[in-house]
Amino acid sequence: MFKLARTPLIRASRAMAQSTAATPIGAVRTKYTLPQLDYELDALEPHISGQINDLHYNKHHKTYVDNLNKAIESAVEAKEKGEAKKLVALQKALNFNGGGYVNHCLWWKNLAPEKAGGGKVPSADSKLGQQIVKQYGSIDNLISATNAKLAGIQGSGWAFIVKNKENGNTIDIVTTANQDTVTDPNLVPLVAIDAWEHAYYLQYQNVKADYFKALWNVINWKEAERRFEF
Ligand SMILES: [Fe+2]
Repeated sequence: MFKLARTPLIRASRAMAQSTAATPIGAVRTKYTLPQLDYELDALEPHISGQINDLHYNKHHKTYVDNLNKAIESAVEAKEKGEAKKLVALQKALNFNGGGYVNHCLWWKNLAPEKAGGGKVPSADSKLGQQIVKQYGSIDNLISATNAKLAGIQGSGWAFIVKNKENGNTIDIVTTANQDTVTDPNLVPLVAIDAWEHAYYLQYQNVKADYFKALWNVINWKEAERRFEF
């Protein structure tokens, strides 16, 4: 049976950061590390199980971090050696693992346990709440529209509720395939939603619609408000 490690994530993340602190003489290069989490791995239950979060954070996200660091090291080496063809070949690894790193950092931060405010939608008088109601009529309508986009993702991908700075700070919903992230500087991700099977399958199996419905109970709208007003 699965047993959840109770080691505080903050301590684990600090240890990881220290373990990657060594840099070669003459080179100052900071390696990417897993972000510190604000909650325990099982704190999002019953909506997202501790087992899923344990694997998602410690295995999947960790792999993106490690492979991003490797790809960067290889790219730096290829650049120093003038190996243009190798640099080009590394773009896919940089895009996939860099996107995986960024997307999951957004993901963990825009989740929160219910007892810490997860699922508590923006108040009607907040800037984000006002914009949502103005465009979508209600937050429930925005959630339904996002779930419709999520349902339309074929294979693995992400959905993002974004602030469109180029269009008067309106709120859009965009999706990406695989680990592609939002790179348009005019689009600010407010909520990032992981539609990969590794995010839900152990708990929801093939009924991903139930996962998309349940996860709104642990969405950190306070973080979305902060990103919207930033
Ligand atoms: Fe994921």
